[in-house]
Amino acid sequence: MRTQVAIVGAGPAGLLLSQLLGVEGVDSVVVERRSRAYVEARIRAGILESSTVDLLDAVGLGNRVHAAGDEHRGIYLQWPHERHHLDFVDLVGRSVWVYGQTDLTRDLGAARDAHGQQFAYEISDTAVHDIETEHPYVTYRDSAGVDQRLDADVVVGCDGSFGPCRSAVPERVRRTWERVYPYAWLGVLADVAPSTDELIYAWHPDGFALHSMRSATVSRLYLQVDAGASIDDWSDARIWDALAARLGHGQDGWELQRGPIAEKSVLPMRSHVSEPMRHGRLFLAGDAAHIVPPTGAKGLNLAVADVALLAPALVAMLRKNDPRLADAYSETALRRVWRCTHFSWWMTTMLHQSGDPFDAALQQSQLRWVTTSGAGAAGLAENYAGLPIGF
Ligand code: FAD
Ligand code: DHB
Repeated sequence: MRTQVAIVGAGPAGLLLSQLLGVEGVDSVVVERRSRAYVEARIRAGILESSTVDLLDAVGLGNRVHAAGDEHRGIYLQWPHERHHLDFVDLVGRSVWVYGQTDLTRDLGAARDAHGQQFAYEISDTAVHDIETEHPYVTYRDSAGVDQRLDADVVVGCDGSFGPCRSAVPERVRRTWERVYPYAWLGVLADVAPSTDELIYAWHPDGFALHSMRSATVSRLYLQVDAGASIDDWSDARIWDALAARLGHGQDGWELQRGPIAEKSVLPMRSHVSEPMRHGRLFLAGDAAHIVPPTGAKGLNLAVADVALLAPALVAMLRKNDPRLADAYSETALRRVWRCTHFSWWMTTMLHQSGDPFDAALQQSQLRWVTTSGAGAAGLAENYAGLPIGF
């Protein structure tokens, strides 16, 4: 089989890239290890920054976000006995949207179906070859067990943090940075109306907690737990008690409503950046090139921002024989990657207990500054609501 762009991975980065290329008349084939049902049901991100929604609007994919999503002006930041609202719209003129990654993935899949996109789901043994030549290709075993070869002009690794593409960049040119945090998140999806109108990020001596949501009837909540914590040690009752304590149930009349827990899991937390994001005819986008800890909701948005840069670069390279944007892709994308890497680390270290009382005293000072100084609040708001594409 032959295509212009072979895309490895049908997560948000791969699907959106195929859409952006498709509307400009560039062909792609998307190959994915999991089944489509699995990819579309995977519960992950929930916050879209304003530039992500602007991009979806620009390519005709924003309708469902506007119809079914929920626009938030800001967030609450709190610590025991104090809750402060940061209004991003007042601070920087931009909002964020609550819209599940599951919904976005389904919207993208439907849009690609409407354009006749070629997919291969449930593949195995994916490998990329000859990326230093002008004739790269991908090999894999398809869902029927038949070995396949996909020839392309370029290969794009949108295969997440555990896919094979990143390690296809030779070690002699690859540089990586990593920070593993000594804590994890326990994430819960609960069938109960959110107890708040906007997200609550809570600092607490017992550990961080976050109250997010997916809809008027579904809440998404997170607790800081020890790295390596087992979900078996966290009964539903223990989870609700910890959430109630950390989120301030009973303070100033605020109450956390409990409900049936539909899903719970423990997520490790790390920062990781791999440079360059292009080698020869292989380009990397999204989690394939970088991971951020989830505090600050940047991962999905960063994957979208990568693809927003990469699509026009590939269109210019393949349709107009102009390599300039493609040559600049890695350096340009990495500017935003490092900004988001810093912001996610900053939010994470401001809000999680490290066990060191000096850290806790600094955190309290920082939280007070961010919530009482216009400059401090605007810095958080500018990063959270999202810098313009191309920053
Ligand atoms: P992925 O979504 O990981 O997609 C990669 C795809 O490649 C997968 O479908 C995978 O199956 C496929 N693949 C892997 N290996 C192969 C192979 N060998 N062959 C073929 N295909 C392969 N981000 C935010 O912006 N906001 C949030 O609120 C937020 N919350 C999060 C909450 C949680 C609990 C988690 C886990 C993440 C969260 N994130 C958030 C991060 C966000 O989900 C990711 O950054 C995002 O999914 C990245 O998209 P991607 O397309 O780059 O990678
Ligand atoms: C969600 C996840 C985050 O990491 C975050 O900072 C905010 C919200 C969520 O899943 O809703």
